[in-house]
Amino acid sequence: MSPRGEPGGLAGDQDSRTQFSRVAEAYRSSPTHSDPVSLARFIALAELRPNHVVLDVATGAGHSALAAAAHVRRVVGLDITPAMLDQARRLAAEREIRNVEFVEGNAEALPFAAQSFDRVLVRSAPHHFGQLIPALAEAYRVLRPGGAFAVSDCSPPPVVRDWLAVVEVGRDPSHVRSRALEEWRALLQAIGFTVEHAERIEQEKDILEWFEIARVSEATRRQLLDYYEGAPQAVRGQLLPQWREGRFYHRYWHALIRARRPLDAGV
Ligand SMILES: C[S@@+](CC[C@H](N)C(=O)[O-])C[C@H]1O[C@@H](n2cnc3c(N)ncnc32)[C@H](O)[C@@H]1O
Repeated sequence: MSPRGEPGGLAGDQDSRTQFSRVAEAYRSSPTHSDPVSLARFIALAELRPNHVVLDVATGAGHSALAAAAHVRRVVGLDITPAMLDQARRLAAEREIRNVEFVEGNAEALPFAAQSFDRVLVRSAPHHFGQLIPALAEAYRVLRPGGAFAVSDCSPPPVVRDWLAVVEVGRDPSHVRSRALEEWRALLQAIGFTVEHAERIEQEKDILEWFEIARVSEATRRQLLDYYEGAPQAVRGQLLPQWREGRFYHRYWHALIRARRPLDAGV
């Protein structure tokens, strides 16, 4: 169980499709991914307006696309895993949300014309992308000048990132890499975005629930819990791991970023 760094896009994409086809149903009802507080915070970050046309990249079971749909004219949710899109369409039908459509595609080569969206969203997914930079460049390309890109993704502090990556990959082999807030800022600015908002939020995570959503086997679960037992002091001091009533919790971090494509930018 070691992090696989940033491989060629294809291997990463295949891993994502395999992993998310196994767990698509669990993501539809996942308390973490459907959490109304986290969704409301993400929607507020994106500063949506009623006339907006929005793209939700790596939409998964569609939680953020469906949350956005109430605030805008039209939403397109894109994902590389057909089984996830089936779950998203099912949720849209159950909620009778009609201004959203779901399409299959790769974040690294978006099947849309330049400047066709007012907002691009991506939540809990960039750490799965085989190649992040092409995905960021694609978000920039499809945004109209003045449009905004809203990102939420796991972002542990550098002192725990590499240690925690072993857990992330053991839990979900399609995990590629989490980025620290400063890495995010530098990557977005290099593409041409202006970073308007960048914060790291902290929450307590129910680790056994997190394993369950990814359908981790009993053997892997035991192996990962043993790995936690051997965590160095510097890591424990950040994670603050603890068992309560048979559940295991520790601190976890997300980056929340809004970056704008400048008004005077060319195509
Ligand atoms: C953890 S889920 C997040 C889903 C959703 N954004 C949410 O917040 O609930 C990650 C999603 O990223 C998708 N994904 C991974 N790599 C992708 C890529 N290169 N292009 C498009 N989707 C991708 C997976 O299929 C999966 O549905």
